[in-house]
Amino acid sequence: MTQDRRSFLKTTTLAGAALAVAGCADRPAAASSSPVFAAAPLSGVRWGFIGVGARGSGHVDTMLMLEGATVTAICDTHAPSLKAAVDNAAKKSGRTPQAWGADGDANAWKSMLASSEIDAVVISTPWELHTPMAVAAMKAGKHAFVEVPAALTLEECWELVDVSESTGRHCMMLENVNYGREELMLLNMVRKGVLGELLHGEAAYIHDLRGQMFEVDHGTGSWRTPHYATDQGNLYPTHGLGPVAHYMDVNRGDAFDHLVAMSTPARGRALFAKANFPPDHKWNAIREWKCGDLSTSLVKLASGRTIMVQWDETSPRPYSRHNYLQGTKGAFGGFPNRIALDVPAEELPAGVRAKMKPDAKRSNSHGWDMDMKPWFEAYDHPMWKKVGEVAAKHGGHGGMDFVMLWRVQQCLMKGKPLDQSVYDAAAWSAVTPLSRASAEQGSAPQKFPDFTRGRWRTTPPLVIEAD
Ligand SMILES: NC(=O)c1ccc[n+]([C@@H]2O[C@H](COP(=O)([O-])OP(=O)(O)OC[C@H]3O[C@@H](n4cnc5c(N)ncnc54)[C@H](O)[C@@H]3O)[C@@H](O)[C@H]2O)c1
Repeated sequence: MTQDRRSFLKTTTLAGAALAVAGCADRPAAASSSPVFAAAPLSGVRWGFIGVGARGSGHVDTMLMLEGATVTAICDTHAPSLKAAVDNAAKKSGRTPQAWGADGDANAWKSMLASSEIDAVVISTPWELHTPMAVAAMKAGKHAFVEVPAALTLEECWELVDVSESTGRHCMMLENVNYGREELMLLNMVRKGVLGELLHGEAAYIHDLRGQMFEVDHGTGSWRTPHYATDQGNLYPTHGLGPVAHYMDVNRGDAFDHLVAMSTPARGRALFAKANFPPDHKWNAIREWKCGDLSTSLVKLASGRTIMVQWDETSPRPYSRHNYLQGTKGAFGGFPNRIALDVPAEELPAGVRAKMKPDAKRSNSHGWDMDMKPWFEAYDHPMWKKVGEVAAKHGGHGGMDFVMLWRVQQCLMKGKPLDQSVYDAAAWSAVTPLSRASAEQGSAPQKFPDFTRGRWRTTPPLVIEAD
């Protein structure tokens, strides 16, 4: 029996026991009992885009590079952004996509979705539009690919799941970080048992984005800043959490069970507004910034394992997603990448052994190994080996954006399941409403709904393959 299979069965048994105690389905069973959804293969994919601002314009650009992908329609209510994306597509592909929304009509996307020339839609709009647009896309027969977070409330999470199941359309949240070179390598290492049995993970999105407040009337800061005034909890949980959920086989043998959360006081946004905008500016008119600067959640899994999830887009501090894993054989940490193992020398990659004293019998877990080169050589994910070089040259965020869309395109054309299911979109996004509820209730535990309706116990781990 392979390591993958063994550890899957092991966590399945553990998790099954926990489920009996916790109680299961919050909703009636779905019609299909297959845990892994795959749609019929497409000979080519005709893509529509809703929202081509900072993020969506990059998705259009990447899609234009992919074999079998055609950009057929683009919608944005901001005429200059729409024109720039349409012109870019026309120039690079020789085909001018249909343009929607140039007159500023906020409902133009609905007309676009009626087009029979679209197979799949990429949604890169402000957060509150994600679920309504993804749901409408699926109901119009299109596969939905929606930016992070996929949903803002538990009701929206369920709506995505219900509509994906009833329409037989994919709904994937575009969590690009799962396709970073480090994250893919770590997933591969975990599967090969390098860290032993996983016990704990740490995930974060720590990124000082106060500068977005200068986008007052248009752009990311114009719609994102008001969320800091009115919301609470972790508003952007999935960048760090997505990869950790994959390492831990969440929804594929294990499941998020409950979380507790707490937030710091909210200070940074008011200070930044005062320091950078006139006293009568709208940011200074906000009487209370409700959202604590740093949110910390602790997630307990059905297997008993734990994940810490942090979020802070306000404090002055260097970027981090933590990307930390503790296993019974050692630990891996990100930002900066480092590894510490307590294993016999013969279990280490040749490049690591070459740096050890010739008579050393074991690795030393009391110090970090910061040299990742031999680890990449030994454990780079097959997908990264195949397209990583091209991705790093062309794609945003170090190549992860390219690998993600390339992989999506491969899966759609081959009729394979996607790496990130609608259940992942729902469970990862659910941290936002649950952390908010916990923070508002003195850190009271909040139960995760079981969006898979119990099928996480029989869903196999993600396949590690090149394409
Ligand atoms: N995965 C990542 O690494 C990553 C990075 C940045 C942003 N994002 C996500 O991408 C999304 C977009 O963020 P952004 O920074 O590009 O914001 P943005 O403001 O630059 O772009 C949003 C676009 O949506 C358009 N829009 C708004 N309402 C619309 C409507 N009714 N119909 C059509 N178009 C409409 C706007 O005109 C704008 O061009 C957000 O959800 C954000 O969280 C993800």
